[in-house]
Amino acid sequence: MDRQRYWIQDKFFGGAKVLRREFEGVFGMADLAKPARFVWDFWSIQGQYKHLRAQPESVFSADSLANFYAHLEKWGLKNLGCSQVSPVWLSAYTEGCFQKLHADFPHGPWAFVYSLTPEEFKGAGRTMLAKDSLVDLWASFDSLENFHEADFFEYISPDFNRLVVFDPRLPHAVERVENALGVLEGRLVLHGWFLPPQPVIQGELSEKTFGDALSKGLGDCQEAFISYPKLHGLLSFEFVVSRAGRVTRLKILSNTLINRADPTESLSPLIELVTEKISGMTFKSQKEPSKCVLPLVFE
Ligand SMILES: [Fe+2]
Repeated sequence: MDRQRYWIQDKFFGGAKVLRREFEGVFGMADLAKPARFVWDFWSIQGQYKHLRAQPESVFSADSLANFYAHLEKWGLKNLGCSQVSPVWLSAYTEGCFQKLHADFPHGPWAFVYSLTPEEFKGAGRTMLAKDSLVDLWASFDSLENFHEADFFEYISPDFNRLVVFDPRLPHAVERVENALGVLEGRLVLHGWFLPPQPVIQGELSEKTFGDALSKGLGDCQEAFISYPKLHGLLSFEFVVSRAGRVTRLKILSNTLINRADPTESLSPLIELVTEKISGMTFKSQKEPSKCVLPLVFE
């Protein structure tokens, strides 16, 4: 599997309209002196960031947020091998708001942006995400071609109920928003990071048994890992340990691995080796199959 840079999941959450309705209930025109309206932090760092931030708990109901977080974490575990998220912010981008290019890896291996932007403003404040042609210019440089901004960035529109997950090591930004005069207009997003993941075992397999099998199974990979001292990123797997103690239904969930010593180098041989070793792991027989998520984090 090639290195992943971003995901787009449309129609993400069944409760999207409820969240939007709750937001409009607080910031609509019905009650202009409602205390709950006065919750925004004007986040402005000269030339870098300019938008409004709030804590979601001060805007949305506890039930709606709990449902959203549960859905987000379940989706993250299934698709990324990451189940826990950092504290989430609510950000509104009205007239003149933006984020300039930056990268913010230390928070976790995947950043997420979930949009509650109304349909009529969906093109407002697109997320810009650097392509490899920018991050590693010389690998794709062609002296016979001109390059323009669109050659260096993906532009991802904040469509209503769209979840965007991206590798936050890549330079990213939010386009300046125009013609949005209040928080009911413009870009509205819940955003944060998936935290560095831990193994997850669902079933009777104990952590100790799992850890022992892992040490034994991946022991032969240590030499290969050592030969890539500049490896960075996340490689996560999902598999089922059968009743007979065999690894079945093995698949890669996340792959953001990069060899910083040579970013153009294919890491397929290493990934194939690790995959082979995991598929060969053996466990004691058990009454019922166990489902496992195994993240390997390289920093
Ligand atoms: Fe960021």
